[in-house]
Amino acid sequence: MKLVNYYKTFLNNFKQKIIPLVYQNDLKKLGLFYETKWGEEQGDHMYVQHYEKHFYSIRRKNLKILEIGIGGYDNPNEGGNSLKLWKTYFPNSRIYGVDVVDKKALEEDRIQIFQGSQNDEYFLKKVIEEIGELDIIIDDGSHVNEHVITSFKTLFSSLKDGGIYIVEDTHTSYWPSLFGERWSTFGNKNVYLENLAKVGGSLDLNDPKTSMNFFKRLIDGLNHEEFLFPGYIPSYFDKHIVSMHFYHNLIIMYKGNNIEGSNILENNTLRPYILEELGVKSLDDLGLDFASVSDQYIRYRL
Ligand SMILES: C[S@@+](CC[C@H](N)C(=O)[O-])C[C@H]1O[C@@H](n2cnc3c(N)ncnc32)[C@H](O)[C@@H]1O
Repeated sequence: MKLVNYYKTFLNNFKQKIIPLVYQNDLKKLGLFYETKWGEEQGDHMYVQHYEKHFYSIRRKNLKILEIGIGGYDNPNEGGNSLKLWKTYFPNSRIYGVDVVDKKALEEDRIQIFQGSQNDEYFLKKVIEEIGELDIIIDDGSHVNEHVITSFKTLFSSLKDGGIYIVEDTHTSYWPSLFGERWSTFGNKNVYLENLAKVGGSLDLNDPKTSMNFFKRLIDGLNHEEFLFPGYIPSYFDKHIVSMHFYHNLIIMYKGNNIEGSNILENNTLRPYILEELGVKSLDDLGLDFASVSDQYIRYRL
């Protein structure tokens, strides 16, 4: 019997070590092996195909990758599947995990873990102070709309030039908080249900408080140099988001220098040669209603 157990443990350890090595360049197989970011059937998350497209060419680089949300919820010894996935797929990178539950027990070589809430700006800044600027940030934490926005606003500036910021599970934008006031009367709270109770999405597709609407508004910032609004002051996001890729429940954003110049505008007003061609001396002569547009542009300054 002892021998059988020994053999089983040996086989299991062998499987845990060898299979990831065999699959290390195939994110789909790794996702299925670690049971994360996977999905082949309707209803599963289909993130692997997108991750593969964005990550394949950089997987051998020496990167710093932070993932919010380690998995396993209230159990401190469970989770860490995606951290292991990234550790295998990025063999020369350091992987950092953040979770509101203490998951330190899951630390291993090249995987460092911090405990705190993604909605706590002070905590996030302390983490960055310790680990420095990052190449990739993945938000797979609470999926509470307010938390997703806080984390992005706090962490985006800590990405390196060329860095990538990813938000998973944006479907919570469309779900109103469940249970509402009744939540306080429920016993047996756990992190998962607590977040679901206050997820803060909306049935209104234009509700400005949802994470999807927050990110949708940032899209216009890609073209901030084309805003015909003299005096417009570009935000940090206007100047540093160079592309945004929206997929089903997933957003992938790249950081860079978003200052290309416009051929018609300069400093958000018409270039002199355009005014000349239009036969006017200044923008004022065109009689545009800037009073009404200013509100709109101010709203973009998130
Ligand atoms: C969906 S699981 C993460 C799964 C993991 N990334 C994977 O792919 O295997 C979400 C995790 O976020 C954690 N979490 C919940 N609320 C959080 C918060 N406010 N800040 C940080 N982590 C949170 C939960 O404890 C849970 O472990």
